[in-house]
Amino acid sequence: MTLESTNPVTAEFDELRRLAHHKFGIIVPANAESFLDSRLRAFMSQTGHESIPELLREARSDGREDLLINLVEHLSTNHSYFYREPAHFEFMASTLLPELEERLRRDRTKDIRIWSSAAAAGEEAYSIIMAMREYFGTHYQDLDAGVLATDIAKATLRRGAIGEYRAEAFRHMPMAWQQKYLEYLGDNTYRVVKQVRDDVMFRWLNLTEPLEMLRGRFHLILCRNVMIYFDDTTRENLVRNLSTMLAPGGYLFIGHTDNPDHARIYLDQIRPAIFRKKAS
Ligand SMILES: C[S@@+](CC[C@H](N)C(=O)[O-])C[C@H]1O[C@@H](n2cnc3c(N)ncnc32)[C@H](O)[C@@H]1O
Repeated sequence: MTLESTNPVTAEFDELRRLAHHKFGIIVPANAESFLDSRLRAFMSQTGHESIPELLREARSDGREDLLINLVEHLSTNHSYFYREPAHFEFMASTLLPELEERLRRDRTKDIRIWSSAAAAGEEAYSIIMAMREYFGTHYQDLDAGVLATDIAKATLRRGAIGEYRAEAFRHMPMAWQQKYLEYLGDNTYRVVKQVRDDVMFRWLNLTEPLEMLRGRFHLILCRNVMIYFDDTTRENLVRNLSTMLAPGGYLFIGHTDNPDHARIYLDQIRPAIFRKKAS
């Protein structure tokens, strides 16, 4: 028996790490006990569980997947902000959207399908809609464009659908966008305008499960700043699955600090965190 497993608290944390990995592919580092402990205690003060073993027992039991999802949501970071990684938005304006516009004209269609696959509270998805509105101007109205925003964090998704954020979330967004797409609610809080909110659909989806429920193919998939939580095999499976969900010529954006090795296997690398599926 190892020293680790004789310590009951460590054994509980091990169990939690195992669950988070098994269900959601998330790796919680073995040296993160004090972080886990404070997050767990904050969580238990909300749920009314009196001890970590009691909480884990219930989260593991059949029919309590909601509790487990909630718990994992408390352990992972949902931090995001608008216009994160500007290079992606610049690439959209200079290359991706002009290409897409040309394709729409050629194929006589109006559909633009975009998926923000670890969307947190929608900061990324709403920024994409704003980028499209900026590019297409008044023609945006003629398109059938939208962003599917998915995540495992349910409360975070609910916040996204409401579309209200503290001012810090917009710090990096161009001032002209802030003036056009936000309304001030008071108390340092802003709401994304309805025309932008209406074009984002929020859904729960676990990226480590098969993606068959998603129909059709996407012109752009964003999978940014989530793969760092996954192990190598989970990452490779995910990138393979995502590449099959792309339309021919479609793009995958990963985070600039995400490891690009797996994406390179299935897609052509265009820029540091930008990949493209072959057009034919
Ligand atoms: C740091 S945030 C990144 C948000 C945004 N993509 C960005 O770059 O700002 C990571 C998000 O990944 C989500 N996540 C973690 N594991 C996931 C999984 N297995 N399936 C779907 N989303 C997951 C978390 O809930 C969190 O909202």
